[in-house]
Amino acid sequence: MLEQKMSSLSFDSYEDCQATADWLLSRTKVRPTVGIVCGSGLGGLAEILKDPEVFKYSDIPNFPQSTVHGHAGQLVFGTLKGKPCVCMQGRFHLYEGYSIQKITLPMRVFKLIGVETVILTNAAGGLNQNYNVGDIMIIKDHINMPGFAGVNPLTGPNDERFGVRFPSMSDAYDRKLQQLAHDVASELGYSNFLQEGVYCVLGGPCFETIAECRMLRSLGADAVGMSTVHEVIVAHHARMRCFALSLITNKSVMEYDSQEKASHEEVLETGRMRAEKLEKLVSTMVARLEHNPSSQ
Ligand code: HPA
Repeated sequence: MLEQKMSSLSFDSYEDCQATADWLLSRTKVRPTVGIVCGSGLGGLAEILKDPEVFKYSDIPNFPQSTVHGHAGQLVFGTLKGKPCVCMQGRFHLYEGYSIQKITLPMRVFKLIGVETVILTNAAGGLNQNYNVGDIMIIKDHINMPGFAGVNPLTGPNDERFGVRFPSMSDAYDRKLQQLAHDVASELGYSNFLQEGVYCVLGGPCFETIAECRMLRSLGADAVGMSTVHEVIVAHHARMRCFALSLITNKSVMEYDSQEKASHEEVLETGRMRAEKLEKLVSTMVARLEHNPSSQ
């Protein structure tokens, strides 16, 4: 009873997610096995899908809406290098005011429409002083800072149809996909701006203070942002394999005599500068993806 009450208050139930999945599946013939989430200024990936079928978030039952400039706010179905894909052109963030369960709802819908592999991109600040603006970082692990304060998308009743109550996270980022990214990047000649590191998520919308950046770096984070981790937790819980990339759009400010400061304009500008290369990396990886037998 309590569970039902909690569910109806703040969660989309399995049946709600299924209703959204059914709504989409009845409107497209595409049966995606790959789901892609595009970060700030990186929505161009959706535009290279062949024979696109577009659904505005505002038309999709149970979906929240994108409120951020640089995020188109639509779900695009189509094929990428012959592989059926669905692409979120614009994602949801905690700072938009949605619950953490709501911003991750699309991952559960991905699962229910048959997605096996989720590829996520984001814009991030570079905490690692060896990183340059424009670097692409393969996320090998994350630090879920809101999670330390109990803000986790799996909080609340667990529906075993999605996944287990206590999922592991030490294997959240699929290692084979990371290796594939290294191989593809080196073939494409991208090795000089490819990095691999730890991404830390914060709630935003403020960019970090200098003291916060120093603290995050000393905790082992290489990049900081406001997204991706919540989606990875929900996708991994549902046994989809996850791969994520950060585009380093700015260097985190670590010194008090620095004149630099982070801005959304800089984030979008770097996105424009590197978007094509990031898209090429992802699309070449998608072309080589094999069926994911661990996802059921
Ligand atoms: N901090 C947090 N989020 C970000 C940043 C940053 O410096 N750059 C792009 N997204």
